[in-house]
Amino acid sequence: MFRRAPDRIRDQVTFTFDGMPISASAGDSVAAALLAAGIRACRTTPVSGAPRGPYCMMGVCFECLVTIDGVGNRQACLIPVRPGMRVETQSGARAIAEESHL
Ligand code: FES
Repeated sequence: MFRRAPDRIRDQVTFTFDGMPISASAGDSVAAALLAAGIRACRTTPVSGAPRGPYCMMGVCFECLVTIDGVGNRQACLIPVRPGMRVETQSGARAIAEESHL
């Protein structure tokens, strides 16, 4: 469905998505790299578990939330790929760390 324009191919960057190596072009957002690799869903909804994927590609819809290097609720469309980055599907709502002082 999505193809990279020939003049947009740059140095390659490799990261993982759910443990699978993904090759991207330097400067790609995580969302663009996932779509270019044929991955259309990157999170599931908290209520029904329905798959969701990047939609607006400009930080408005929040459909692209993923976990990056262990940190949840990251907007994949706003974060550039980095070599070795570990991206994971965000399943439902992000876990909130327990506050020890409450
Ligand atoms: S795709 Fe809409 S906020 Fe990322």
